[in-house]
Amino acid sequence: MDNKEKELREVQMLGLKLPTDPRWVNLAEKGLEEILTDHAYCEQKAATACISLIQAFPEKEEMVRELAPVVTEEWGHFRMVLSEMDKRGLRLGRQRRDEYVNQLLQFQKKGGSREERLLEKLLTCALIEARSCERFRLLSLHISDPALRDWYHKFMVAEAGHYRLFIDLAKRYTGEAIVRQRWREYLEREAEIMKGLELRGDRMH
Ligand SMILES: [Fe+2]
Ligand SMILES: [Fe+2]
Repeated sequence: MDNKEKELREVQMLGLKLPTDPRWVNLAEKGLEEILTDHAYCEQKAATACISLIQAFPEKEEMVRELAPVVTEEWGHFRMVLSEMDKRGLRLGRQRRDEYVNQLLQFQKKGGSREERLLEKLLTCALIEARSCERFRLLSLHISDPALRDWYHKFMVAEAGHYRLFIDLAKRYTGEAIVRQRWREYLEREAEIMKGLELRGDRMH
């Protein structure tokens, strides 16, 4: 199996229930400044989410060790987006309400044990990574600018790795069967959320 096939198989294994409408890429590339702005803030939020996990669960030592470099990596992604915008003379706009993430957060079970709360957070992160990965893949295949195709491909590969890491951490701390069950519920809910959101070219999700 060559690398391309391997990547494709990984993306298909993300398990998302609702593939993104392919017209999204056309909408996105019509407003590059908007989509790059939204992307930039997604990377910031990814870094912040890892920092929050470390702050909330310092006793999960392996998780702390494994997420610490991801913070750097996500911040590096933010800087990649900034420099791509600079190169193209585009400006970072303001952050917008993230309806997708807000709705996912509402789905998290509140209360429960520390382990249960950790599970909810890890699966939410895994899901956002999975959807981002799916969308980066579409951009890497279909956006007209060849330089951007390669550029988006790097994000796709990185976010696939993060998705796997969050799932692995969830399994390590709560067990395979529980993760499988709850992950299915998250996937169902995510598909409903996606279906309910307007298809917009200025949003990564
Ligand atoms: Fe990232
Ligand atoms: Fe990520």
